[in-house]
Amino acid sequence: LSVRAGLIEPDGGKLVDLHVAEPERGLKKREAALLPRVKLTRIDLQWVHVLSEGWASPLTGFMRESEFLQTLHFNSLRLGDGSFVNMSVPIVLAIDDSQKERIAESKRVTLVDSDDNPVAILNNIEIYKHPKEERIARTWGTTAPGLPYVEETITKAGNWLIGGDLEVIEPIKYHDGLNRFRLSPVELRQEFEKRNADAVFAFQLRNPVHNGHALLMTDTRRRLLEMGYKNPILLLHPLGGYTKADDVPLSWRMKQHEKVLEDGVLDPETTVVSIFPSPMHYAGPTEVQWHAKARINAGANFYIVGRDPAGMGHPIEKRDLYDADHGKKVLSMAPGLERLNILPFRVAAYDKTQSKMAFFDPSRAQDFLFISGTKMRALAKNKENPPDGFMCPGGWKVLVKYYDSLTPS
Ligand code: ADX
Repeated sequence: LSVRAGLIEPDGGKLVDLHVAEPERGLKKREAALLPRVKLTRIDLQWVHVLSEGWASPLTGFMRESEFLQTLHFNSLRLGDGSFVNMSVPIVLAIDDSQKERIAESKRVTLVDSDDNPVAILNNIEIYKHPKEERIARTWGTTAPGLPYVEETITKAGNWLIGGDLEVIEPIKYHDGLNRFRLSPVELRQEFEKRNADAVFAFQLRNPVHNGHALLMTDTRRRLLEMGYKNPILLLHPLGGYTKADDVPLSWRMKQHEKVLEDGVLDPETTVVSIFPSPMHYAGPTEVQWHAKARINAGANFYIVGRDPAGMGHPIEKRDLYDADHGKKVLSMAPGLERLNILPFRVAAYDKTQSKMAFFDPSRAQDFLFISGTKMRALAKNKENPPDGFMCPGGWKVLVKYYDSLTPS
């Protein structure tokens, strides 16, 4: 891989690529057939994808205990040369007692998908205790019941974690017609080079794009041009892995994002739309560090952050789980992210006096309307329109269609 001088260097200096080279795939498959097997869940497979393409560089596989503990306690990993990279969410694989017994003294295991097809070999394995409560408490800052990722993957997972170095037999693909949007960090870097980017600014999202989001992105572009950059490129980077049940599914979000470009809210000439394969934790200030770190590896040197990134409502209390300003504060100070330029933004809301989305001005709070996700869902479900200027009409139509598709006929 040739990393152009202009793009930010990946963490650890080099992007890891954990794929088996094509001529060796047959051989690896035969090796894989002889090893003890560990079945991957859908979310485990998404992590294999993330690891395989180097989003978590310099990590070379599921975390061993030392990496897990550093992540949990320091939100960072120490490299061989004494330097640090950011790493805030554990990327771990859980197994249960019977799987552990079957693995016995083996130093390698084969990871298989739900159809028992071999996906990868995990080498030089280490099996250690899965301290679930501590993992949950430290990652989310609470063990309140009802955290989506926890319920989905941790509560019912096994009592052991298995770490090691991954060899992924074939690139991970999905059957949803969206693979062409799944650019790896290497491919994104090539795309930025091709476009002659002199700055790359990333926007992480898991929701449809409204004009408040767009305001953050267009304002960033304006600021970068003002700073003297000639060709800043936007990476519009929707999260493509696991999301909670009431979030809009990826396929609908992609349709919505397409309309946002078609309707001219964002400029296709200076925007790359791609899918970030990570699952979503909803772990607020802890998770937003992962979101930012992964984008360094993809070549972004600027990162936009606004209100309550990676946040959600508290699962059992009537309030947000995290302070809405902590995400951007933490990101600006996070160990290992010093090389990334963080662009923190105030909350955007609908300004009734201008009939458009604008940065909230507390001195005339009464002029602003906050349109929450819940409110948006309610409007779309009832086929009502949001106020003019909240979202482009094409994008809104996609949402109405999505909620319509949920209603039993
Ligand atoms: S996230 O889970 O991916 O962070 P979301 O898709 O809602 O959630 O947000 C994407 C980005 O836009 C995050 O940086 C978030 O802080 C920011 N954001 C979302 N809504 C607003 C808003 N009304 N004002 C300012 N920033 C916002």
